[in-house]
Amino acid sequence: MPDAPTGTFPRSPLDLDADTMRRLGYMVTDVVAQHLSTLRQQRVLDTLPRRATERLIAAPPPARGTDMGTMLAWLGEHVFAHAAREPHPGFIAYVPSCPTFPAALGDWLATGYNFFAGVWPVASGPNQIEALVLDWFRQWLGMPNGSSGLLTTGGSAANLTAMIAARHAAVGDDPSRIARLTVYASDQTHSSAIRAAWIAGIARSHVRLLPSDDAFRLPMDGLARAIAQDRANGLVPLMIVANAGTTNTGAVDPLGPLADLAARETIWLHVDAAYGGFSVLSADGRRALAGIERADSVTLDPHKWLYVPFECGCLMAREPKRLKAAFQIYPDYLKDAESDGDEVNFADYGEQLTRYARALKVWLTVTYFGTDVLREAIAYSLSLAAYAEQLVRGQPSMEVLAPATLGILCFRVHPRGVDDPAALDALNERVNAAVNAGGRFFISSTRIRGALSLRICPIGFRTTREDMAVFVDQVAALAAPHA
Ligand SMILES: Cc1ncc(COP(=O)(O)O)c(C=O)c1O
Repeated sequence: MPDAPTGTFPRSPLDLDADTMRRLGYMVTDVVAQHLSTLRQQRVLDTLPRRATERLIAAPPPARGTDMGTMLAWLGEHVFAHAAREPHPGFIAYVPSCPTFPAALGDWLATGYNFFAGVWPVASGPNQIEALVLDWFRQWLGMPNGSSGLLTTGGSAANLTAMIAARHAAVGDDPSRIARLTVYASDQTHSSAIRAAWIAGIARSHVRLLPSDDAFRLPMDGLARAIAQDRANGLVPLMIVANAGTTNTGAVDPLGPLADLAARETIWLHVDAAYGGFSVLSADGRRALAGIERADSVTLDPHKWLYVPFECGCLMAREPKRLKAAFQIYPDYLKDAESDGDEVNFADYGEQLTRYARALKVWLTVTYFGTDVLREAIAYSLSLAAYAEQLVRGQPSMEVLAPATLGILCFRVHPRGVDDPAALDALNERVNAAVNAGGRFFISSTRIRGALSLRICPIGFRTTREDMAVFVDQVAALAAPHA
């Protein structure tokens, strides 16, 4: 420790004393603890139209400050009340993000210290935590030694980072060659991967979204044919984007055969495991994702199934130097931070220079609970969609549209005698809206082979089998008048 400074130093009004900081911190802790411990008693979703929130929230920037108690009360009433409760046990729409409390504290530590996790010398400790959690992910996926990458804002950023790196590996500094690049994926692929190709300059007509097979997977034959045809036409296949858990149905593309094909054809195999990746911690997930370890790159989203808050995605690369080749740049004002090779400057691996130490929240949640508890939570949540499927199959007025796969179930209400597709869609839209208006569950819809489907993804750790039973009963009651 340096010697304590002597003399008097003027203190900025922005520089709060320790007691005040503690008092304010405890006030926020109280609000969050109260919120999280009463989720079950709250409605899962409250929302207002734009005009109404404008009226509630509009205010000029105040010239004078306000005390924390007043602000928290105001935020609670005017702001926090008008949002989905993401970590609520009834939040089974889209892909829920259900963070643990220690993970939320990880964000507080990262921002309280405000580490700059872009280059090594100014945050060697926090950067090593990122290197460590990336190595945990590598081991969980079964990727070879040396595979690594970086944490990102989310899965979209990870998909984009992979696409840019693959493009650089393929065409280097010759932009004229981009026009011939093609990308392959199933029609179930997440929009962020498609957008990544667009941003990377791949012609929209060269993003081949192949019709998925009966199990919503990328068809091997169709893929091989498309690649051969493109090569015959002088085009250059760049990347296969495989899914390890589609957002729609949880489908996992045939990862092993895709790795074989990609190796034969020298095409970058990217696996978008933003949704399903962390299921590898469970035995069933590990089996479902066999082959993922052979990918050139893998997108993960800790803010989905690793119970950390937004924003936390991850790109893992078999050869991280390929990321570096695409992104590394050292202007004069950053020369002091240039890495000697051993020390990791995470800014070299993606587009972000200033990055906060989001690895801390991952480290905190994994270290606080341990992998056994996380594994059990993931295995349990995997079982919920399967249980819901069983319940749906027991209901004469319902039908499964895509069986429970990797934690997602798609089904619809289909009363006997109602067979007109438009009428069925309209009925299911009404059921979707009625469930969500009820406040106990928040679900979302999608389309399965053209038909409007209700979709649930019960992967939050507060959701239970009992919730599934209440939910299916609720849908059955909504279907009853039409049966
Ligand atoms: C399969 C898949 N890929 C990518 C994404 C995009 O990730 P993010 O929303 O974290 O950017 C999602 C989001 O739900 C997803 O489900």
